[in-house]
Amino acid sequence: MSAGQQDGNFKLNLNGQEVAWSGEPAASLADVIRDQQGLTGTKIGCRTGECGACTVLLEGRPVVSCLIPAASVQGQQVETIEGLARQEEFQSLMTAMQENGGVQCGFCTPGVMVTTWAWLQNPALFNGDLGSALKNNLCRCTGYLGIIRSAEQVLAGRGAGV
Ligand code: FES
Ligand code: FES
Repeated sequence: MSAGQQDGNFKLNLNGQEVAWSGEPAASLADVIRDQQGLTGTKIGCRTGECGACTVLLEGRPVVSCLIPAASVQGQQVETIEGLARQEEFQSLMTAMQENGGVQCGFCTPGVMVTTWAWLQNPALFNGDLGSALKNNLCRCTGYLGIIRSAEQVLAGRGAGV
């Protein structure tokens, strides 16, 4: 435990449910999600905010959970890939990713899908197209084309163009 920090009990609204966790206030949201809540779909790569593998939605916006103290988001809505996957609407993106080669190594894919879903829900959150939105999700293998095709398929299914 770091100097000046005390273990405590905290609450988190995770995937629509209030959950309790205990530990030091500076524990990262990523660690609490994975270690205390057992939701390992959120991956940890760099721990420096660079790779995007740990991306979750905070109040609908994609954030890198490795840099956020879990105690700082009490009362806010956090959604992980597991929570999104339970939503019927999200199935359209899951299917499209499978059909368009958007799923690659599996380590980056959850974070990529979280960001892509946020963009599909509210492009105005981002200053540009999906390619720009994904600039914080590093992937060395896909070239992002399969992901972008997947998003196009979801939008086409909604009757909208990219
Ligand atoms: S683990 Fe959080 S951005 Fe890489
Ligand atoms: S999906 Fe992981 S490096 Fe491309």
